[in-house]
Amino acid sequence: MKMNGYNISERVLSVELSGIRKFFQAASPNSVNLTLGQPDFDTPQHIKDAAIHAIQSGYCGYTFNAGLPELRLAISDKLDRENSLSYTSDQVIVTAGAGEALYIALQSLVNPGDTVVYTDPGFVSYAECTKLASGRGRPLSLSSDLCIDIEQAKEAMDGARVFVLNSPSNPTGTVEPAETIRAIVEYADDKGVCVISDEVYEHFVYGDAKHVSAAQFGDNVLTINATSKTYAMTGWRLGFVAGPSEYIDQCIKVHQYCQTCATSISQYAALAAYTGDQSCVTHMKDVYERRRDLVYDGLTRLGFTFKRPEGAFYAFAPMASLFSKLVDAGVVGVPGDAFGKCGAPYVRFSYAAADEVLSEAIRRIGTIVSD
Ligand SMILES: Cc1ncc(COP(=O)(O)O)c(C=O)c1O
Repeated sequence: MKMNGYNISERVLSVELSGIRKFFQAASPNSVNLTLGQPDFDTPQHIKDAAIHAIQSGYCGYTFNAGLPELRLAISDKLDRENSLSYTSDQVIVTAGAGEALYIALQSLVNPGDTVVYTDPGFVSYAECTKLASGRGRPLSLSSDLCIDIEQAKEAMDGARVFVLNSPSNPTGTVEPAETIRAIVEYADDKGVCVISDEVYEHFVYGDAKHVSAAQFGDNVLTINATSKTYAMTGWRLGFVAGPSEYIDQCIKVHQYCQTCATSISQYAALAAYTGDQSCVTHMKDVYERRRDLVYDGLTRLGFTFKRPEGAFYAFAPMASLFSKLVDAGVVGVPGDAFGKCGAPYVRFSYAAADEVLSEAIRRIGTIVSD
């Protein structure tokens, strides 16, 4: 299509910029800005030190396309140790974050017009990366408690090519039970649907909730993860995709031509992250859990009723009708419809922010409620 004389593809014209960034940038300086899914922790020192050492040692050239052999091995060990998954290091591609992993997976699996199922509400990239792969998105509405309904998920898989699963979920904070994950993976396997399992929030699960990796229940699964959230490394751009060689051998082609390799320095940092002391992760999880309670208890005290989020670092609260009042009171979240039509009644607040910031947000919301 010609747009004002410029040659933009229909495919790219159909894609929306993320609503999350739009609201992040629009927030006034005095606002309590709870829009971004960005850990407020600094990257742990031993990880930074590994990067500094890599720079000082001159490890600044291209690496193998799929990543440093020692890092791929460390990821394969991590998947075995933490997720009970057995992938060889050849079945892992190191990517520029989970975002690139998702992109190359969808590019590699989806033919024009193929159906990709993802939840509504769901993380913004699923719908837009589906369009970029010329696929057709099929949003799956969630039950009233923001969980996947197994029977509806099965129906949605009719004739589909890919099912994108994200637990713990952004934006809802839902951690799907193992029975749901098993049912989806087993049914998908029967129907020839590949499950892409985005597990970037795997370590941030609270109370009795447990994270279970989809690939434990079947082979037709690609597992995506990243250092971004787990180790407070969003800016380092380091993630991975792991799965059957039949997929990985194709995904590497897309990765090679769009990325060449993940940043060498970040790969050394990730090696330290995956092989080093994991107490930093436990610490961050404990802090997020406390903040989850601070926000949830604060909002329920003010009269908002919704399910206590069990994972990730978001409260998805039914507050859309108050959105403009919230902005006036200086509290900015992301309107739920940025995550799909069914998100419309909600606002997503990230609680990856200091306790004082979150308490101030609750105080300001209180002033609206008491008006
Ligand atoms: C569910 C989910 N998947 C993937 C990503 C992208 O992660 P990365 O920064 O590693 O590309 C995000 C980032 O917010 C996310 O919330």
